[in-house]
Amino acid sequence: MIVTLTANPSADRAVLLPGPLVPGEVQRADSSREDAGGKGVNVARVVSAAGAPARAVVPVNDHDPYRLLLDDTGVALDIVPVSGRARANLTITDPLGETTKLNLPGAELSADEAAALTAGVVAAAEGATWLVLAGSLPPGVPETFYADLISAVRERWGAAAPRIAVDASGPALAAVVATARPDLIKPNHEELAELVGEDAAVDDDVIAAATRRAAALVPERVASALVTLGADGALLFDAGGAWRGRAPKIQVASTVGAGDSSLAGYLLADLEGATAPDRLARSIAYGAAAATLPGTQAPTPADLPSGPIAVTAFSTPTATS
Ligand SMILES: Nc1ncnc2c1ncn2[C@@H]1O[C@H](COP(=O)(O)OP(=O)(O)OP(=O)(O)O)[C@@H](O)[C@H]1O
Ligand SMILES: [Mg+2]
Repeated sequence: MIVTLTANPSADRAVLLPGPLVPGEVQRADSSREDAGGKGVNVARVVSAAGAPARAVVPVNDHDPYRLLLDDTGVALDIVPVSGRARANLTITDPLGETTKLNLPGAELSADEAAALTAGVVAAAEGATWLVLAGSLPPGVPETFYADLISAVRERWGAAAPRIAVDASGPALAAVVATARPDLIKPNHEELAELVGEDAAVDDDVIAAATRRAAALVPERVASALVTLGADGALLFDAGGAWRGRAPKIQVASTVGAGDSSLAGYLLADLEGATAPDRLARSIAYGAAAATLPGTQAPTPADLPSGPIAVTAFSTPTATS
């Protein structure tokens, strides 16, 4: 069982324009679709679509239209009732694939609601193989929310606690890495740079920069890191080594949610007992499949690229070099 938390859920509306987006103009869209978004929901959808058991813990107001979108996903849900409504995230794509995203702030969680959400996740984590903490934190909760939640889950379930994967950014991810030693993080290139206090914009060798940064974290502060690099594929680091996999050439429809599908692919392979290079290959295949689908549509095994994903092992500098 894979249990996910989406602390700051969103209704994701994807809009397809017939031409480039022009600020200040009225433009007609060719089409639009709305999906229950939120990274934890996305991961649970992909895992479920592959036939593996998943549950999504989500704070939702019963009268929120988002609840209907959630029900449409068919994912098993653990709803924690809250007073606020889910935010909307808008993705605008033009015919050349140029994408503009507007992510609205979420509703504030009260201290009581945050405590109920923690209790809901701790209960849902019973017997799970993985717990996935994914996406931003809602306003009102401390930056240490994920880090504190990891402590609460491990304290409650001890040796039977699930392994914990975190796909977050900024202070929430920094707090996890500082104190909670997660089993897996899934940063993209920018998130990894930010995590070690560097600027990804100045990198001329993306692979070397990501490798140096990951080596400073793995395995002391995080047991393993899956670093996704968009069209450049992904890297996997753990105590046993480092691997690089290349992404297949694909026709991109929308890269929104590609990282969530990557994480789901990795976890699906892990549930089957796959080796590190095979976990990385499955992750890249799922990320690429997600990028070929519009919006945040969840890829199924039938959507995976047909050819093999090339993965090679390489050596890393040690954390102290
Ligand atoms: N243009 C692309 N071509 C091929 N594969 C891609 C492309 N973009 C993304 N992918 C696949 O998806 C994976 C994840 O992409 P990316 O690194 O952009 O995730 P992300 O930044 O975490 O995205 P998000 O958080 O929006 O889901 C990549 O490792 C790769 O396998
Ligand atoms: Mg991501």
